[in-house]
Amino acid sequence: MKTSWLTILPVWLLGTIVTASTPLQYCSVDAEEKTDLCFAVASFKNSTTQANDLSLHISTKFVVDATGWASVAIGPKMDNALMFIMYPGGEQGRITVSTRTTRYHAIPKVVSEDAPETHVTKTWIDDTGLYNAQIMCYNCESWSGTTLDVMSPSQPWIWATNWDQPTHSDDVHLKLRPHNAKGFTMLNMASSYSESGDIIAQVSTQRITQEPNTDDAGPAPPTMQDESDDHHPAKEHHKHSAFGLVSLHGFLLSFGFFALTFGVLGIRSGSSKSYKIHWTIQTGGGSAIVVGCLMGIYLSYKHGGHFGTFHQWIGLSMIPSVIIQGLLGYLHHVNYLKYGRRTAVSYYHIWLGRAALIIGNLNVGFGLNLAGAESFKWFTWYAGLAIQLSVLIPMWYFYARGKTILDAVRNKPVAKDVVRYESVEQDAFIVDDELDEFEDEGLGHDDLKNGKD
Ligand code: HEM
Ligand code: HEM
Ligand code: HEM
Ligand SMILES: *[C@@H]1O[C@H](CO)[C@@H](O)[C@H](O)[C@H]1NC(C)=O
Repeated sequence: MKTSWLTILPVWLLGTIVTASTPLQYCSVDAEEKTDLCFAVASFKNSTTQANDLSLHISTKFVVDATGWASVAIGPKMDNALMFIMYPGGEQGRITVSTRTTRYHAIPKVVSEDAPETHVTKTWIDDTGLYNAQIMCYNCESWSGTTLDVMSPSQPWIWATNWDQPTHSDDVHLKLRPHNAKGFTMLNMASSYSESGDIIAQVSTQRITQEPNTDDAGPAPPTMQDESDDHHPAKEHHKHSAFGLVSLHGFLLSFGFFALTFGVLGIRSGSSKSYKIHWTIQTGGGSAIVVGCLMGIYLSYKHGGHFGTFHQWIGLSMIPSVIIQGLLGYLHHVNYLKYGRRTAVSYYHIWLGRAALIIGNLNVGFGLNLAGAESFKWFTWYAGLAIQLSVLIPMWYFYARGKTILDAVRNKPVAKDVVRYESVEQDAFIVDDELDEFEDEGLGHDDLKNGKD
Protein backbone atom coordinates (compact mmCIF):
# COMPACT_ATOMS: atom_id res chain seq x y z
CA MET A 1 0.00 0.00 0.00
CA LYS A 2 2.56 2.52 1.16
CA THR A 3 4.94 1.74 -1.61
CA SER A 4 2.37 2.18 -4.34
CA TRP A 5 1.48 5.65 -3.00
CA LEU A 6 5.12 6.57 -2.97
CA THR A 7 5.54 5.65 -6.60
CA ILE A 8 2.35 7.32 -7.79
CA LEU A 9 2.97 10.60 -5.98
CA PRO A 10 6.05 11.74 -7.93
CA VAL A 11 4.43 10.73 -11.18
CA TRP A 12 1.34 12.74 -10.26
CA LEU A 13 3.46 15.74 -9.20
CA LEU A 14 5.47 15.62 -12.37
CA GLY A 15 2.27 15.33 -14.32
CA THR A 16 0.85 18.47 -12.71
CA ILE A 17 3.97 20.46 -13.47
CA VAL A 18 4.05 19.36 -17.09
CA THR A 19 0.34 19.92 -17.68
CA ALA A 20 0.36 23.24 -15.83
CA SER A 21 2.71 24.54 -18.49
CA THR A 22 0.37 23.38 -21.26
CA PRO A 23 -1.29 26.46 -22.70
CA LEU A 24 -4.87 26.77 -23.81
CA GLN A 25 -4.29 26.96 -27.49
CA TYR A 26 -5.92 26.30 -30.81
CA CYS A 27 -4.04 25.52 -34.00
CA SER A 28 -4.94 25.20 -37.60
CA VAL A 29 -2.01 23.89 -39.57
CA ASP A 30 -2.94 22.84 -43.05
CA ALA A 31 -0.62 22.87 -46.03
CA GLU A 32 -3.46 22.66 -48.51
CA GLU A 33 -5.15 25.73 -47.04
CA LYS A 34 -1.76 27.46 -46.82
CA THR A 35 -2.48 28.07 -43.18
CA ASP A 36 -0.19 27.69 -40.20
CA LEU A 37 -1.89 29.48 -37.33
CA CYS A 38 -1.87 28.95 -33.58
CA PHE A 39 -3.20 31.12 -30.84
CA ALA A 40 -3.04 30.77 -27.09
CA VAL A 41 -5.19 32.58 -24.57
CA ALA A 42 -5.03 33.14 -20.83
CA SER A 43 -6.98 35.39 -18.57
CA PHE A 44 -6.72 36.71 -15.05
CA LYS A 45 -8.14 39.19 -12.64
CA ASN A 46 -6.28 42.49 -12.76
CA SER A 47 -5.51 43.27 -9.12
CA THR A 48 -5.75 47.03 -9.62
CA THR A 49 -8.88 47.25 -11.73
CA GLN A 50 -10.58 44.03 -10.51
CA ALA A 51 -11.55 43.48 -14.14
CA ASN A 52 -10.66 40.41 -16.18
CA ASP A 53 -7.81 40.93 -18.60
CA LEU A 54 -7.12 38.67 -21.54
CA SER A 55 -3.69 37.75 -22.79
CA LEU A 56 -3.47 36.49 -26.35
CA HIS A 57 -0.55 35.08 -28.30
CA ILE A 58 -0.96 34.66 -32.04
CA SER A 59 1.72 32.74 -33.85
CA THR A 60 1.47 32.29 -37.60
CA LYS A 61 3.52 31.51 -40.63
CA PHE A 62 2.77 33.52 -43.76
CA VAL A 63 3.32 30.44 -45.84
CA VAL A 64 3.51 31.91 -49.33
CA ASP A 65 6.10 34.66 -49.87
CA ALA A 66 5.70 35.90 -46.28
CA THR A 67 2.61 37.91 -47.12
CA GLY A 68 -1.12 37.97 -46.35
CA TRP A 69 -2.80 38.33 -42.97
CA ALA A 70 -3.93 36.19 -40.06
CA SER A 71 -6.63 36.89 -37.56
CA VAL A 72 -8.37 35.50 -34.52
CA ALA A 73 -11.50 36.99 -33.11
CA ILE A 74 -13.82 36.77 -30.13
CA GLY A 75 -17.26 35.60 -31.16
CA PRO A 76 -19.10 32.86 -33.03
CA LYS A 77 -18.99 34.66 -36.40
CA MET A 78 -17.67 37.80 -38.06
CA ASP A 79 -20.62 40.00 -37.16
CA ASN A 80 -19.53 42.29 -34.27
CA ALA A 81 -16.56 40.05 -33.37
CA LEU A 82 -13.53 41.65 -31.72
CA MET A 83 -10.80 40.84 -34.24
CA PHE A 84 -7.07 40.77 -33.71
CA ILE A 85 -5.42 40.91 -37.10
CA MET A 86 -1.72 40.69 -37.86
CA TYR A 87 0.32 41.10 -41.01
CA PRO A 88 3.94 41.76 -41.99
CA GLY A 89 5.00 45.35 -41.36
CA GLY A 90 6.39 47.90 -43.76
CA GLU A 91 9.93 46.78 -43.11
CA GLN A 92 11.53 43.35 -42.83
CA GLY A 93 11.24 42.13 -39.26
CA ARG A 94 8.26 44.26 -38.33
CA ILE A 95 4.73 43.09 -37.57
CA THR A 96 1.54 45.15 -37.62
CA VAL A 97 -1.30 44.28 -35.25
CA SER A 98 -4.69 45.83 -35.80
CA THR A 99 -7.79 45.49 -33.61
CA ARG A 100 -10.97 45.62 -35.64
CA THR A 101 -14.59 44.68 -35.94
CA THR A 102 -17.28 44.61 -38.59
CA ARG A 103 -21.00 44.31 -39.28
CA TYR A 104 -22.15 41.11 -40.96
CA HIS A 105 -19.45 40.30 -43.53
CA ALA A 106 -18.25 43.78 -44.43
CA ILE A 107 -14.51 44.52 -44.51
CA PRO A 108 -13.38 44.88 -40.88
CA LYS A 109 -12.54 48.39 -39.67
CA VAL A 110 -10.34 49.48 -36.77
CA VAL A 111 -12.39 49.54 -33.55
CA SER A 112 -13.56 52.84 -32.12
CA GLU A 113 -12.63 54.37 -28.78
CA ASP A 114 -15.28 52.55 -26.79
CA ALA A 115 -13.71 49.14 -27.43
CA PRO A 116 -11.64 47.61 -24.63
CA GLU A 117 -8.12 48.96 -24.37
CA THR A 118 -5.62 46.69 -26.09
CA HIS A 119 -1.87 46.72 -25.99
CA VAL A 120 0.61 44.85 -28.15
CA THR A 121 3.18 43.72 -25.60
CA LYS A 122 5.62 42.00 -27.89
CA THR A 123 6.07 41.06 -31.53
CA TRP A 124 8.84 38.95 -33.00
CA ILE A 125 9.70 36.76 -35.94
CA ASP A 126 11.62 33.61 -35.09
CA ASP A 127 14.18 31.81 -37.23
CA THR A 128 11.61 29.30 -38.46
CA GLY A 129 9.64 32.16 -40.00
CA LEU A 130 6.89 32.25 -37.39
CA TYR A 131 5.36 35.68 -36.86
CA ASN A 132 4.38 36.21 -33.25
CA ALA A 133 2.35 38.83 -31.45
CA GLN A 134 1.43 38.97 -27.79
CA ILE A 135 -1.51 41.19 -27.05
CA MET A 136 -3.21 42.30 -23.84
CA CYS A 137 -6.86 43.13 -23.88
CA TYR A 138 -7.70 44.97 -20.66
CA ASN A 139 -11.15 44.46 -19.19
CA CYS A 140 -11.79 42.47 -22.32
CA GLU A 141 -15.20 41.24 -21.19
CA SER A 142 -16.46 44.80 -21.62
CA TRP A 143 -16.58 44.18 -25.39
CA SER A 144 -20.28 44.40 -26.15
CA GLY A 145 -20.36 43.33 -29.80
CA THR A 146 -20.07 39.66 -28.93
CA THR A 147 -19.79 37.98 -25.54
CA LEU A 148 -16.50 37.11 -23.93
CA ASP A 149 -16.71 35.13 -20.71
CA VAL A 150 -13.29 34.20 -19.33
CA MET A 151 -14.95 31.62 -17.05
CA SER A 152 -16.88 29.95 -19.83
CA PRO A 153 -16.15 26.30 -20.61
CA SER A 154 -17.20 26.94 -24.20
CA GLN A 155 -16.25 30.37 -25.46
CA PRO A 156 -16.66 30.77 -29.23
CA TRP A 157 -13.65 31.99 -31.19
CA ILE A 158 -13.10 32.35 -34.92
CA TRP A 159 -10.01 32.63 -37.04
CA ALA A 160 -9.22 33.46 -40.66
CA THR A 161 -6.15 33.64 -42.87
CA ASN A 162 -5.20 35.13 -46.20
CA TRP A 163 -2.01 34.18 -48.00
CA ASP A 164 -2.07 36.23 -51.20
CA GLN A 165 -2.75 39.87 -50.27
CA PRO A 166 0.41 41.98 -50.58
CA THR A 167 0.29 43.37 -47.05
CA HIS A 168 3.75 44.53 -45.82
CA SER A 169 2.37 47.66 -44.23
CA ASP A 170 2.61 49.56 -40.94
CA ASP A 171 -0.86 50.96 -41.50
CA VAL A 172 -3.33 49.50 -38.99
CA HIS A 173 -6.16 50.66 -41.28
CA LEU A 174 -4.86 48.68 -44.27
CA LYS A 175 -7.83 47.57 -46.35
CA LEU A 176 -8.06 43.81 -46.08
CA ARG A 177 -8.87 41.41 -48.84
CA PRO A 178 -11.09 38.43 -47.94
CA HIS A 179 -9.80 35.28 -46.31
CA ASN A 180 -8.71 32.14 -48.10
CA ALA A 181 -9.38 30.01 -45.02
CA LYS A 182 -11.44 30.46 -41.90
CA GLY A 183 -12.81 28.49 -38.99
CA PHE A 184 -14.62 28.36 -35.69
CA THR A 185 -13.66 26.86 -32.38
CA MET A 186 -14.82 26.68 -28.77
CA LEU A 187 -12.28 27.15 -26.01
CA ASN A 188 -12.61 26.16 -22.39
CA MET A 189 -11.67 29.58 -21.05
CA ALA A 190 -12.07 28.49 -17.44
CA SER A 191 -9.09 26.17 -17.87
CA SER A 192 -6.73 29.08 -18.38
CA TYR A 193 -8.22 31.55 -15.93
CA SER A 194 -6.26 32.66 -12.94
CA GLU A 195 -7.50 34.67 -9.95
CA SER A 196 -4.10 36.01 -9.17
CA GLY A 197 -1.22 37.44 -11.08
CA ASP A 198 -0.70 38.33 -14.64
CA ILE A 199 -0.09 35.34 -16.83
CA ILE A 200 1.04 35.73 -20.38
CA ALA A 201 -0.41 33.41 -22.97
CA GLN A 202 2.25 31.49 -24.79
CA VAL A 203 1.82 29.22 -27.80
CA SER A 204 3.76 26.02 -27.24
CA THR A 205 6.33 24.68 -29.65
CA GLN A 206 3.95 21.82 -30.40
CA ARG A 207 1.65 23.35 -32.97
CA ILE A 208 -1.44 21.39 -32.00
CA THR A 209 -4.70 22.28 -30.31
CA GLN A 210 -4.48 21.69 -26.58
CA GLU A 211 -5.94 22.56 -23.22
CA PRO A 212 -4.31 22.84 -19.78
CA ASN A 213 -4.62 19.91 -17.36
CA THR A 214 -5.22 17.30 -19.99
CA ASP A 215 -2.89 14.88 -21.73
CA ASP A 216 -0.72 17.50 -23.28
CA ALA A 217 0.27 15.74 -26.45
CA GLY A 218 -3.06 14.03 -26.93
CA PRO A 219 -5.78 14.99 -29.33
CA ALA A 220 -8.14 17.83 -28.54
CA PRO A 221 -10.32 16.99 -25.54
CA PRO A 222 -14.05 16.61 -26.16
CA THR A 223 -14.87 20.04 -24.73
CA MET A 224 -13.17 21.63 -27.70
CA GLN A 225 -14.91 21.57 -30.99
CA ASP A 226 -12.86 22.20 -34.03
CA GLU A 227 -15.01 23.44 -36.83
CA SER A 228 -12.43 24.43 -39.33
CA ASP A 229 -14.85 24.26 -42.20
CA ASP A 230 -12.89 22.27 -44.73
CA HIS A 231 -12.51 19.42 -42.29
CA HIS A 232 -16.01 19.29 -40.93
CA PRO A 233 -18.20 20.90 -43.55
CA ALA A 234 -21.31 19.50 -41.87
CA LYS A 235 -20.49 21.38 -38.69
CA GLU A 236 -19.83 24.68 -40.45
CA HIS A 237 -21.09 27.37 -38.22
CA HIS A 238 -23.02 29.20 -40.87
CA LYS A 239 -22.39 28.88 -44.52
CA HIS A 240 -23.40 31.07 -47.41
CA SER A 241 -24.01 29.07 -50.52
CA ALA A 242 -24.45 30.71 -53.87
CA PHE A 243 -28.19 30.17 -53.47
CA GLY A 244 -28.33 30.97 -49.77
CA LEU A 245 -30.76 33.35 -48.17
CA VAL A 246 -28.39 36.31 -48.35
CA SER A 247 -27.91 35.87 -52.07
CA LEU A 248 -31.62 35.34 -52.63
CA HIS A 249 -32.40 38.50 -50.66
CA GLY A 250 -29.86 40.42 -52.73
CA PHE A 251 -31.05 38.96 -56.01
CA LEU A 252 -34.75 39.66 -55.43
CA LEU A 253 -34.03 43.25 -54.44
CA SER A 254 -31.45 44.08 -57.10
CA PHE A 255 -33.70 42.56 -59.71
CA GLY A 256 -36.77 44.33 -58.31
CA PHE A 257 -35.20 47.77 -58.52
CA PHE A 258 -33.69 46.97 -61.90
CA ALA A 259 -37.17 46.07 -63.17
CA LEU A 260 -38.63 49.38 -61.94
CA THR A 261 -36.50 51.20 -64.49
CA PHE A 262 -38.22 49.31 -67.26
CA GLY A 263 -41.61 50.00 -65.76
CA VAL A 264 -40.74 53.69 -65.81
CA LEU A 265 -39.58 53.35 -69.38
CA GLY A 266 -42.94 51.69 -70.02
CA ILE A 267 -45.01 54.65 -68.85
CA ARG A 268 -42.89 57.06 -70.92
CA SER A 269 -42.53 54.81 -73.94
CA GLY A 270 -45.33 56.37 -75.93
CA SER A 271 -46.71 52.92 -76.50
CA SER A 272 -50.46 52.56 -76.45
CA LYS A 273 -50.00 49.93 -73.75
CA SER A 274 -47.82 52.19 -71.62
CA TYR A 275 -50.16 52.33 -68.64
CA LYS A 276 -50.61 48.59 -68.51
CA ILE A 277 -46.90 47.92 -68.98
CA HIS A 278 -46.13 50.31 -66.17
CA TRP A 279 -48.46 49.03 -63.52
CA THR A 280 -47.76 45.39 -64.31
CA ILE A 281 -43.98 45.71 -64.09
CA GLN A 282 -44.09 48.05 -61.08
CA THR A 283 -46.48 45.84 -59.16
CA GLY A 284 -44.32 42.80 -59.89
CA GLY A 285 -41.07 44.62 -59.06
CA GLY A 286 -42.65 46.22 -56.00
CA SER A 287 -43.81 42.84 -54.68
CA ALA A 288 -40.35 41.35 -55.17
CA ILE A 289 -38.95 44.30 -53.22
CA VAL A 290 -41.35 43.90 -50.32
CA VAL A 291 -40.71 40.14 -50.13
CA GLY A 292 -36.94 40.74 -50.41
CA CYS A 293 -37.04 43.28 -47.60
CA LEU A 294 -38.99 40.89 -45.39
CA MET A 295 -36.25 38.33 -46.06
CA GLY A 296 -33.73 40.99 -45.02
CA ILE A 297 -35.55 41.43 -41.74
CA TYR A 298 -35.58 37.67 -41.21
CA LEU A 299 -31.85 37.52 -42.06
CA SER A 300 -31.11 40.23 -39.54
CA TYR A 301 -32.95 38.33 -36.80
CA LYS A 302 -31.06 35.20 -37.74
CA HIS A 303 -27.83 37.15 -37.36
CA GLY A 304 -28.68 38.16 -33.82
CA GLY A 305 -31.32 40.84 -34.28
CA HIS A 306 -29.17 43.91 -34.90
CA PHE A 307 -30.73 46.59 -37.05
CA GLY A 308 -27.99 49.18 -36.80
CA THR A 309 -26.65 49.57 -40.32
CA PHE A 310 -27.32 52.17 -42.95
CA HIS A 311 -28.24 49.40 -45.39
CA GLN A 312 -30.94 48.05 -43.11
CA TRP A 313 -32.39 51.50 -42.36
CA ILE A 314 -32.63 52.41 -46.01
CA GLY A 315 -34.03 48.96 -46.78
CA LEU A 316 -36.66 49.24 -44.04
CA SER A 317 -37.79 52.62 -45.37
CA MET A 318 -38.36 50.98 -48.76
CA ILE A 319 -41.21 48.76 -47.52
CA PRO A 320 -43.72 51.57 -46.81
CA SER A 321 -42.38 53.64 -49.70
CA VAL A 322 -43.05 50.95 -52.26
CA ILE A 323 -46.49 50.15 -50.88
CA ILE A 324 -47.47 53.83 -50.71
CA GLN A 325 -46.07 54.27 -54.19
CA GLY A 326 -48.40 51.63 -55.56
CA LEU A 327 -51.38 53.25 -53.85
CA LEU A 328 -50.36 56.68 -55.12
CA GLY A 329 -50.11 55.32 -58.64
CA TYR A 330 -53.59 53.94 -58.38
CA LEU A 331 -54.94 57.13 -56.78
CA HIS A 332 -53.36 59.19 -59.51
CA HIS A 333 -55.14 57.06 -62.03
CA VAL A 334 -58.52 57.36 -60.30
CA ASN A 335 -58.14 61.12 -59.98
CA TYR A 336 -57.00 61.29 -63.52
CA LEU A 337 -60.13 59.62 -64.76
CA LYS A 338 -62.15 62.01 -62.64
CA TYR A 339 -60.48 65.32 -63.46
CA GLY A 340 -58.65 64.53 -66.66
CA ARG A 341 -55.47 66.10 -65.41
CA ARG A 342 -52.70 65.59 -62.93
CA THR A 343 -53.35 66.17 -59.28
CA ALA A 344 -50.94 66.53 -56.36
CA VAL A 345 -51.00 62.75 -56.01
CA SER A 346 -49.48 62.42 -59.49
CA TYR A 347 -46.48 64.49 -58.46
CA TYR A 348 -46.05 62.53 -55.22
CA HIS A 349 -46.13 59.34 -57.24
CA ILE A 350 -43.61 60.57 -59.79
CA TRP A 351 -41.16 61.99 -57.28
CA LEU A 352 -41.44 59.31 -54.61
CA GLY A 353 -41.07 56.79 -57.43
CA ARG A 354 -37.92 58.39 -58.79
CA ALA A 355 -36.43 58.68 -55.30
CA ALA A 356 -37.22 55.04 -54.45
CA LEU A 357 -35.76 53.89 -57.76
CA ILE A 358 -32.47 55.69 -57.17
CA ILE A 359 -32.10 55.02 -53.44
CA GLY A 360 -33.05 51.36 -53.84
CA ASN A 361 -30.46 50.83 -56.53
CA LEU A 362 -27.81 52.47 -54.35
CA ASN A 363 -28.79 50.27 -51.42
CA VAL A 364 -27.76 47.27 -53.47
CA GLY A 365 -24.22 48.60 -53.11
CA PHE A 366 -24.55 49.04 -49.35
CA GLY A 367 -25.89 45.48 -49.16
CA LEU A 368 -22.98 44.08 -51.16
CA ASN A 369 -20.63 45.94 -48.85
CA LEU A 370 -22.34 44.52 -45.78
CA ALA A 371 -22.18 41.03 -47.17
CA GLY A 372 -18.51 41.31 -48.14
CA ALA A 373 -19.63 40.23 -51.61
CA GLU A 374 -17.16 38.92 -54.16
CA SER A 375 -16.23 41.00 -57.18
CA PHE A 376 -18.52 39.11 -59.55
CA LYS A 377 -21.55 40.51 -57.71
CA TRP A 378 -20.08 44.02 -57.70
CA PHE A 379 -19.52 43.93 -61.44
CA THR A 380 -23.02 42.62 -62.02
CA TRP A 381 -24.33 45.57 -60.02
CA TYR A 382 -22.18 48.07 -61.95
CA ALA A 383 -23.41 46.58 -65.23
CA GLY A 384 -27.02 46.81 -63.99
CA LEU A 385 -26.54 50.46 -63.05
CA ALA A 386 -24.98 51.23 -66.42
CA ILE A 387 -27.89 49.62 -68.25
CA GLN A 388 -30.43 51.54 -66.18
CA LEU A 389 -28.67 54.87 -66.66
CA SER A 390 -28.43 54.33 -70.38
CA VAL A 391 -32.20 53.82 -70.40
CA LEU A 392 -33.20 56.56 -67.96
CA ILE A 393 -30.95 59.40 -69.04
CA PRO A 394 -32.08 59.51 -72.70
CA MET A 395 -35.65 58.80 -71.61
CA TRP A 396 -35.77 61.74 -69.21
CA TYR A 397 -33.91 63.90 -71.72
CA PHE A 398 -36.48 63.37 -74.44
CA TYR A 399 -39.37 63.44 -71.99
CA ALA A 400 -38.30 66.87 -70.75
CA ARG A 401 -38.57 67.99 -74.36
CA GLY A 402 -42.04 66.56 -74.74
CA LYS A 403 -40.99 63.51 -76.69
CA THR A 404 -41.36 59.87 -75.84
CA ILE A 405 -38.70 57.30 -76.53
CA LEU A 406 -40.78 55.93 -79.39
CA ASP A 407 -41.02 59.46 -80.88
CA ALA A 408 -37.28 59.81 -80.60
CA VAL A 409 -36.59 56.41 -82.06
CA ARG A 410 -38.92 57.06 -84.98
CA ASN A 411 -37.50 60.54 -85.23
CA LYS A 412 -40.97 62.06 -85.11
CA PRO A 413 -41.13 65.80 -84.59
CA VAL A 414 -42.95 66.89 -81.45
CA ALA A 415 -46.60 66.43 -82.31
CA LYS A 416 -48.05 69.87 -81.70
CA ASP A 417 -51.36 68.95 -83.24
CA VAL A 418 -51.90 65.93 -81.08
CA VAL A 419 -54.08 66.50 -78.04
CA ARG A 420 -51.61 64.56 -75.91
CA TYR A 421 -49.10 67.38 -75.80
CA GLU A 422 -50.89 70.63 -75.30
CA SER A 423 -48.09 72.08 -73.29
CA VAL A 424 -44.93 70.42 -72.17
CA GLU A 425 -45.28 71.60 -68.57
CA GLN A 426 -48.66 70.10 -67.97
CA ASP A 427 -50.21 67.86 -70.47
CA ALA A 428 -47.09 66.12 -71.62
CA PHE A 429 -47.64 64.05 -68.50
CA ILE A 430 -50.83 62.64 -69.81
CA VAL A 431 -50.35 59.10 -70.86
CA ASP A 432 -51.84 57.81 -74.08
CA ASP A 433 -53.75 54.83 -72.88
CA GLU A 434 -55.10 56.61 -69.85
CA LEU A 435 -56.83 58.79 -72.41
CA ASP A 436 -57.88 55.68 -74.23
CA GLU A 437 -59.61 54.56 -71.08
CA PHE A 438 -61.59 57.77 -71.03
CA GLU A 439 -62.76 56.96 -74.47
CA ASP A 440 -63.68 53.48 -73.35
CA GLU A 441 -65.74 55.04 -70.64
CA GLY A 442 -67.49 57.20 -73.15
CA LEU A 443 -65.50 60.36 -72.58
CA GLY A 444 -63.85 61.96 -75.54
CA HIS A 445 -60.69 64.04 -75.40
CA ASP A 446 -62.81 67.14 -75.73
CA ASP A 447 -64.84 66.27 -72.68
CA LEU A 448 -61.61 65.91 -70.87
CA LYS A 449 -60.27 69.24 -71.91
CA ASN A 450 -63.44 70.93 -70.81
CA GLY A 451 -63.55 69.05 -67.55
CA LYS A 452 -63.63 71.05 -64.35
CA ASP A 453 -60.57 71.56 -62.19
C1 HEM B 1 -11.89 41.83 -46.11
C2 HEM B 1 -12.19 41.16 -45.06
C3 HEM B 1 -13.26 40.10 -45.00
C4 HEM B 1 -14.27 39.81 -45.88
C5 HEM B 1 -14.63 40.54 -47.18
C6 HEM B 1 -14.97 38.66 -45.37
C7 HEM B 1 -16.06 38.07 -45.98
C8 HEM B 1 -16.73 36.98 -45.50
C9 HEM B 1 -17.91 36.41 -46.11
C10 HEM B 1 -18.58 36.92 -47.38
C11 HEM B 1 -18.26 35.34 -45.36
C12 HEM B 1 -19.46 34.44 -45.59
C13 HEM B 1 -19.30 33.63 -46.81
C14 HEM B 1 -18.53 32.37 -46.56
O1 HEM B 1 -19.00 31.55 -45.76
O2 HEM B 1 -17.48 32.23 -47.19
C15 HEM B 1 -17.32 35.24 -44.28
C16 HEM B 1 -17.36 34.29 -43.31
C17 HEM B 1 -16.49 34.23 -42.24
N1 HEM B 1 -15.42 35.06 -41.99
FE1 HEM B 1 -14.92 36.67 -43.05
N2 HEM B 1 -14.38 38.27 -44.20
C18 HEM B 1 -13.33 39.13 -43.94
C19 HEM B 1 -12.49 39.09 -42.84
C20 HEM B 1 -12.56 38.20 -41.81
C21 HEM B 1 -11.75 38.24 -40.63
C22 HEM B 1 -10.69 39.29 -40.30
C23 HEM B 1 -12.11 37.18 -39.88
C24 HEM B 1 -11.45 36.92 -38.55
C25 HEM B 1 -11.56 35.98 -37.79
C26 HEM B 1 -13.15 36.44 -40.60
C27 HEM B 1 -13.77 35.26 -40.20
C28 HEM B 1 -14.83 34.66 -40.83
C29 HEM B 1 -15.52 33.50 -40.33
C30 HEM B 1 -15.16 32.73 -39.08
C31 HEM B 1 -16.57 33.23 -41.20
C32 HEM B 1 -17.65 32.14 -41.07
C33 HEM B 1 -18.70 32.62 -40.07
C34 HEM B 1 -19.46 33.83 -40.56
O3 HEM B 1 -20.19 33.73 -41.56
O4 HEM B 1 -19.30 34.92 -39.96
N3 HEM B 1 -13.41 37.11 -41.76
N4 HEM B 1 -16.41 36.25 -44.38
C1 HEM C 1 -44.05 50.25 -56.70
C2 HEM C 1 -44.70 50.55 -57.72
C3 HEM C 1 -44.48 51.75 -58.61
C4 HEM C 1 -43.38 52.49 -58.84
C5 HEM C 1 -42.00 52.34 -58.21
C6 HEM C 1 -43.73 53.51 -59.80
C7 HEM C 1 -42.87 54.48 -60.29
C8 HEM C 1 -43.22 55.49 -61.14
C9 HEM C 1 -42.37 56.55 -61.57
C10 HEM C 1 -40.91 56.70 -61.15
C11 HEM C 1 -43.07 57.35 -62.41
C12 HEM C 1 -42.56 58.61 -63.09
C13 HEM C 1 -41.85 58.29 -64.37
C14 HEM C 1 -40.83 59.32 -64.70
O1 HEM C 1 -39.79 59.33 -64.03
O2 HEM C 1 -41.01 60.08 -65.63
C15 HEM C 1 -44.39 56.81 -62.51
C16 HEM C 1 -45.42 57.34 -63.26
C17 HEM C 1 -46.69 56.83 -63.31
N1 HEM C 1 -47.15 55.72 -62.60
FE1 HEM C 1 -46.12 54.55 -61.39
N2 HEM C 1 -45.03 53.35 -60.14
C18 HEM C 1 -45.54 52.29 -59.43
C19 HEM C 1 -46.81 51.77 -59.46
C20 HEM C 1 -47.84 52.31 -60.20
C21 HEM C 1 -49.18 51.80 -60.23
C22 HEM C 1 -49.66 50.58 -59.40
C23 HEM C 1 -49.89 52.60 -61.08
C24 HEM C 1 -51.31 52.51 -61.48
C25 HEM C 1 -52.23 51.83 -60.89
C26 HEM C 1 -48.99 53.59 -61.58
C27 HEM C 1 -49.33 54.59 -62.48
C28 HEM C 1 -48.48 55.55 -62.94
C29 HEM C 1 -48.87 56.56 -63.89
C30 HEM C 1 -50.25 56.69 -64.53
C31 HEM C 1 -47.75 57.37 -64.09
C32 HEM C 1 -47.68 58.58 -65.00
C33 HEM C 1 -47.95 59.75 -64.13
C34 HEM C 1 -47.92 61.02 -64.89
O3 HEM C 1 -47.10 61.13 -65.79
O4 HEM C 1 -48.68 61.86 -64.52
N3 HEM C 1 -47.74 53.41 -61.04
N4 HEM C 1 -44.46 55.66 -61.72
C1 HEM D 1 -33.72 48.51 -50.78
C2 HEM D 1 -33.81 47.37 -50.21
C3 HEM D 1 -32.66 46.40 -50.12
C4 HEM D 1 -31.74 46.07 -51.07
C5 HEM D 1 -31.62 46.62 -52.49
C6 HEM D 1 -30.87 45.08 -50.49
C7 HEM D 1 -29.82 44.48 -51.14
C8 HEM D 1 -28.90 43.64 -50.55
C9 HEM D 1 -27.83 43.01 -51.22
C10 HEM D 1 -27.52 43.12 -52.72
C11 HEM D 1 -27.13 42.28 -50.31
C12 HEM D 1 -25.90 41.42 -50.59
C13 HEM D 1 -26.33 40.04 -50.97
C14 HEM D 1 -25.24 39.19 -51.57
O1 HEM D 1 -24.06 39.39 -51.29
O2 HEM D 1 -25.58 38.31 -52.37
C15 HEM D 1 -27.75 42.48 -49.03
C16 HEM D 1 -27.32 41.94 -47.83
C17 HEM D 1 -27.95 42.15 -46.63
N1 HEM D 1 -29.15 42.79 -46.43
FE1 HEM D 1 -30.21 43.82 -47.79
N2 HEM D 1 -31.27 44.84 -49.20
C18 HEM D 1 -32.37 45.63 -48.94
C19 HEM D 1 -33.11 45.67 -47.77
C20 HEM D 1 -32.73 45.08 -46.60
C21 HEM D 1 -33.48 45.12 -45.37
C22 HEM D 1 -34.84 45.80 -45.18
C23 HEM D 1 -32.76 44.45 -44.44
C24 HEM D 1 -33.06 44.21 -43.00
C25 HEM D 1 -33.56 45.07 -42.20
C26 HEM D 1 -31.56 43.96 -45.08
C27 HEM D 1 -30.56 43.24 -44.46
C28 HEM D 1 -29.45 42.73 -45.08
C29 HEM D 1 -28.40 42.03 -44.39
C30 HEM D 1 -28.36 41.75 -42.90
C31 HEM D 1 -27.44 41.67 -45.34
C32 HEM D 1 -26.10 41.00 -45.12
C33 HEM D 1 -26.23 39.57 -44.78
C34 HEM D 1 -24.89 38.94 -44.48
O3 HEM D 1 -23.86 39.25 -45.06
O4 HEM D 1 -24.86 38.09 -43.60
N3 HEM D 1 -31.58 44.36 -46.39
N4 HEM D 1 -28.84 43.29 -49.20
C1 LIG E 1 -4.35 46.35 -14.93
O1 LIG E 1 -4.99 47.20 -15.86
C2 LIG E 1 -4.29 48.38 -16.19
C3 LIG E 1 -5.06 49.17 -17.22
O2 LIG E 1 -6.40 48.86 -17.25
C4 LIG E 1 -2.91 48.07 -16.73
O3 LIG E 1 -2.20 49.26 -17.02
C5 LIG E 1 -2.15 47.19 -15.78
O4 LIG E 1 -0.94 46.81 -16.36
C6 LIG E 1 -2.97 45.96 -15.43
N1 LIG E 1 -2.27 45.14 -14.50
C7 LIG E 1 -1.75 43.98 -14.79
C8 LIG E 1 -1.17 43.22 -13.67
O5 LIG E 1 -1.72 43.55 -15.94
